[in-house]
Amino acid sequence: MSKKKKKDTEVTTAGRHPEKQFGAVNPPVVRASTIAFPTVADMDKAKAKPFDSVYYGRHGTPTTFAFEEAVAKLEGGYRAIACSSGLAAINVVLTALLSTGDHVLMTDSVYDPARRTCEVWLKRLGIETTFYDPRIGAGIAALIRPNTKVVFTESPGSLTFEVQDIPAIVAAAHARGVIVVLDNTWATPVYFQPFAHGVDISIQAATKYITGHSDVMLGAITTSEEIYLRVKRHAAILGASASPDDCSLGSRGLRTLAVRLERHAATGIRLAEWLKTRSEVARVIHPALPGSPDHALWKRDFTGTSGLFSVVLKPCSKDALAAFLDHLELFAMGFSWGGFESLILPVDPTPYRTAVPWKAEGPMVRIHAGLEDPDDLLADLDAGFERLRNAG
Ligand SMILES: Cc1ncc(COP(=O)(O)O)c(C=O)c1O
Repeated sequence: MSKKKKKDTEVTTAGRHPEKQFGAVNPPVVRASTIAFPTVADMDKAKAKPFDSVYYGRHGTPTTFAFEEAVAKLEGGYRAIACSSGLAAINVVLTALLSTGDHVLMTDSVYDPARRTCEVWLKRLGIETTFYDPRIGAGIAALIRPNTKVVFTESPGSLTFEVQDIPAIVAAAHARGVIVVLDNTWATPVYFQPFAHGVDISIQAATKYITGHSDVMLGAITTSEEIYLRVKRHAAILGASASPDDCSLGSRGLRTLAVRLERHAATGIRLAEWLKTRSEVARVIHPALPGSPDHALWKRDFTGTSGLFSVVLKPCSKDALAAFLDHLELFAMGFSWGGFESLILPVDPTPYRTAVPWKAEGPMVRIHAGLEDPDDLLADLDAGFERLRNAG
């Protein structure tokens, strides 16, 4: 039974050790702050390897370790580090790898709060950021300086969903000894294998698809063997750890991740195809749609699509947009995504794009296709468009 398994099998088995937990098939919740040691020798042993055994609550309990083991296996990396949120994971990675005088290359399409980390916090520490065109590919080589330590990627990017040529970026960065980090939240390890594509660190906002029910904040950093201790020590110092309860929900979410994603994907494609035909829509931004600018790259590197995409509407008034959005029955307006429910959010990337200024025909909405019946979702959007038209 040692042959590498398919993803559907891996998500249902990774990180599970029923024989060590009274036969319970999923890791039970072990909560702890104090860990009591019977002898000085036991304490010294744990102290010598604080990340390999239960040592102090903040460093994790068996529930944390099970979630970390599962994520690392799925991503294809060495070990994972559970964090209190996806943003905590991003900030741990950036501050673990960068010091005063260093330079980081950050994709222009990065999740906005990570941009703010660069512009505010890293700047204060004397770390310089260059935001780059997410479609730069091998051209990233020209932006690498002697003090560049990290290339941060997110593919597809937030709001605008540009697919990055990760292998080309990795080749250019590694040729100069630069670490490549990927925010792999959109695809999850089910649809994009970060380490097989050469990245050194993969980040998951497990808040989204991994936990999958919009009721948990959780992040995970998976690293190569070479980098693990550097990042783990830093995460421990920052105290950015996740609670065992949330890690337990992360492990539980993994078991259904692959089947949920299939439905998110199918409904997302159905909505996107339908939206493309609407007279109110200027364009649909969804890399899995044939004909979209990043489709070829997506097809080369990804094995599936999630249910998050954007739609640029034709120009309309603010009131007409509100008429469309305000009375939707099934689509809620909210910032997070990846849960069971459908979402729609008016978004404007303009303030968050500096390398490639955002240009669009009209207002934009980001859609998350949930697990409801797609016919009902289409009817909801259809009624919304009627309100938009009536509002003028
Ligand atoms: C791509 C991406 N990365 C990271 C994050 C941050 O995750 P969290 O909300 O768990 O802090 C988000 C949140 O929306 C996201 O969309």
